[in-house]
Amino acid sequence: MAAPVTVLSAVRGAGEADLVVALGGPGAGTVVTRRCGDLTELLAAAAAGAGAVAVVSGDLPGLDREAVARLHGSGVRVVALADAVPADRLRALGADVVLDGARLDADAVVAAVQQAAGTPGAPGAGPDAAPEEGAPATALGAAGDADAAEAEASGRVQPGRVVVVWGPVGAPGRTTTALELAHELAGVAAARGRRRSARGRRAGEAGEEPPADPRPVLLVDADTYGSSLAARLGLLDDAPGLAAVARAAGQGTLDLATLARHAPVLARGLRVLTGLTRAARWPEVPASALEVVLERARELAAWTVVDTGAVLEADELLMYDTQAPQRNAATLAALAAADDVVVVGAGDPVGVQRLVRGLEELREAPVPVPRPTAVVVNRVRAAAVGPRPEAAVRAALERYAGVGDLVVVPDDPAGCDGALLAGRSLAEHAPASPARLAFAGLADRLRAPAPV
Ligand SMILES: Nc1ncnc2c1ncn2[C@@H]1O[C@H](COP(=O)(O)OP(=O)(O)O)[C@@H](O)[C@H]1O
Ligand SMILES: [Mg+2]
Repeated sequence: MAAPVTVLSAVRGAGEADLVVALGGPGAGTVVTRRCGDLTELLAAAAAGAGAVAVVSGDLPGLDREAVARLHGSGVRVVALADAVPADRLRALGADVVLDGARLDADAVVAAVQQAAGTPGAPGAGPDAAPEEGAPATALGAAGDADAAEAEASGRVQPGRVVVVWGPVGAPGRTTTALELAHELAGVAAARGRRRSARGRRAGEAGEEPPADPRPVLLVDADTYGSSLAARLGLLDDAPGLAAVARAAGQGTLDLATLARHAPVLARGLRVLTGLTRAARWPEVPASALEVVLERARELAAWTVVDTGAVLEADELLMYDTQAPQRNAATLAALAAADDVVVVGAGDPVGVQRLVRGLEELREAPVPVPRPTAVVVNRVRAAAVGPRPEAAVRAALERYAGVGDLVVVPDDPAGCDGALLAGRSLAEHAPASPARLAFAGLADRLRAPAPV
């Protein structure tokens, strides 16, 4: 006879004792090895390998997506009892089996434990989410949920693409690249009216051709070291959209309307999810939540362009403590979820060297990262690399990284500083500038990708 399935119980309320008895009954094939009073105890028991399946009350305080991910990380399957909270919410947290129903039925729990124990492979956390109640609107949140409604109405359309912009330390231009790429993919160009408000921007572009995919582009600031998109765009919005949607994702309540509400419209066809206002808030964006945010983003947006931090490695001191949050988790989670990776390096001797090493680092990252769709060398200039700087940079990357197909962006202080001062993109502010033309070329490459 097979050994009984070991169960960690974290069930609240009067029915708990009966449930434990039923799970240990003859013929049940299950046995309760720990009765946990709270989530901390449950996580500790799971980490100690004390059970194979956790049975938890849906309303267990602190139970969120990150907690379920940690149970999964300890190899424990999760059966959640939806007696006090909606079943959909528990599914969105990633629970393997959700038992619906107002009353605790011991036989059903035994069957659910058996079912969960038989779930093969790593538990996949379902991205299903229930409607969310009363989230705060952001400063520009009045933009409305038309995009969400459109995405919802179009049914199961093809998921949008997630483009992650990464680059090594030294400010090579990750944010500039993400910002310009998003504007190009959204088709936001000059002559589109002055940006006084989101509505003002929209009004100025009535005569423009609609993009092929009616869904917008979503620009996400996921740099947990130094977020800068809000400041770059002149958004005086101190409610970081990313933190809000990550919180909703962690609680299993992130739906399309919520995502749209926290991602205000910047121009027609372009929404932005602003980043953390203080770098110390990085634990608010755990990987388990960002995964869901990007999954939802694929429904809302035709393209999601993610600006990330520079640091890739998992903290070695924390590596063996699977429960410690990791500061680089957001960057790694974004890269792991990416359809396209754009790598940006600076066009000077130090920047090129870091780029070569950065490409190596990506290949050796602690998560699988797709091969880059494009490698960008930014701020290429003769003053830093000698005459014919573009040829020199191409030769160096070919020789040291085997990258023969670069996107070279010239140094363009006039265009970039002007755009920075105006709080706008190059596409809007200086559409004929050399850097803008190079970023437009990058967008074309994304539309017709061929990995480098
Ligand atoms: N091609 C360019 N020419 C001139 N200045 C640039 C160019 N690209 C970026 N910059 C400027 O360099 C600075 C750093 O760029 P940023 O995109 O914020 O880097 P990162 O996100 O990698 O830290 C910004 O002030 C930006 O305006
Ligand atoms: Mg940046």
